[in-house]
This record gives sequence, structure tokens and C-alpha cells, in this order.
Amino acid sequence: MTIGSQRAIRVLGFAGSLRRGSYNRALLHAASELAPEGMLIDIFDLLPIPLYNGDVEAQGDPMPVSAFKDAIRQADGVLMVTPEYNHGVPGVMKNAIDWASRPPRNAALSEKPVAIMGASPGVTGTARGQSQLRQAFEFTNSYAMPQPELLVFRANEKFDAEGGLSDDTTRKLLRQFLEAFGAWTMKFKVAQRH
Ligand SMILES: Cc1cc2nc3c(=O)[nH]c(=O)nc-3n(C[C@H](O)[C@H](O)[C@H](O)COP(=O)(O)O)c2cc1C
Repeated sequence: MTIGSQRAIRVLGFAGSLRRGSYNRALLHAASELAPEGMLIDIFDLLPIPLYNGDVEAQGDPMPVSAFKDAIRQADGVLMVTPEYNHGVPGVMKNAIDWASRPPRNAALSEKPVAIMGASPGVTGTARGQSQLRQAFEFTNSYAMPQPELLVFRANEKFDAEGGLSDDTTRKLLRQFLEAFGAWTMKFKVAQRH
């Protein structure tokens, strides 16, 4: 698929792990490098996002939260790279989604195309965590790309010491995933013009 000769699609990407050596952060960086012609992936670091608190929200979103919501609103699509903790979505990721789901009928995530991928040293490659994360987008009314999935299993074998994605098969699958997300996002961009 050709998105176009210009950087026509802006994607906001974030990873649900805060650790420096995170495979999921490394996967997000690889996505940014391998983005197809016509797609630009900006990376948002979730480290400054505080725990969701309705009392704090009632006083106005803290600065990192409003920056996060603005970045989502300005993006054509959102790429979420999630680890799996105890067969579910890690708190870092879920907390960010909870902030971005507010206010319920005018949320930054509302009617936004989203894609989910993830990496784990285990053999299921975040399958359960991704499924659980997908459920949140029923409530936020976001357009989660159904296929393809990208489950980077045995992640410890697929990145080099500097965090570069060294596995050729995973690089190819990641490129295909991003191409598909470009096409998915374009469907909604085009629909908005009509
Ligand atoms: C609290 C906790 C729970 C975990 N649960 C799972 C799990 O259910 N499935 C899995 O594949 N890996 C699990 N792991 C291992 C993570 O996949 C691994 O730590 C991975 O490197 C985390 O992602 P990151 O590299 O992006 O930080 C767990 C790790 C932690 C710290």
C-alpha cells in the first residue's frame, strides 16, 4: 500500500513500560524507524503521567495529561505497544487509557483509529494482554484495527544489546503491520473528508 509521497499520516505511539531496557519501548522505536513512506510516528513517554484521580481531574488535567490528550487529538491514529502483566494490561498502560478516555463523550480516544502490538520474553507474546486492552476501546468508541496482530514472543532473542530489532522476520512483520495500520487510518481520514 502506498500512503503517499508526503508524510500524510501522523501516528502517536506509546509503550506501557517505563523501564529503560523495555522490549516494548524498543519495539516502538523500531516501528518509528520502519514506518512506511507517508507515515510519521511520534513517541510519547508515559513516565510523567500521574495515577488517575477524579479529584485531581476535577481541578483540571495535570500538564502531562493535557499534553498527552492533545497529542492524541492531533494524531490521525494511535499505536499502543503493551507488555503483558499477569495475563492482563499493565497499570502504566491502563492508567494512560483511563485518562485519555475522559470526558466520556468527548474523549481524546473517541473515534480514533488505534493499533495494538506487544513484546514479551514468553511464548504467547502478550496475546492475553492485547485482548484485554482491546476491550477498553469498546467503551472509548475507538476504532481498533482487528488484523493483523503483532505478537513478539521470545523478545529476548529478537533485540540486540542496544535495543535494536535484529530479527528479520519480526522486522518484516512489523513493516506489514504498519502498512496495514496506515491503510486502516486512511479509511477514517478519507471518511472524515466526506
Ligand atoms: C508483574 C509482572 C507480571 C508479568 N506477567 C507476565 C505475563 O502474564 N505474561 C508474559 O508473557 N510475561 C509476563 N511478565 C514478563 C514480562 O513480559 C517481561 O518482564 C517484559 O520484559 C515486560 O515488558 P518490557 O520489556 O517492555 O518492560 C511479567 C512481568 C512482571 C514484572
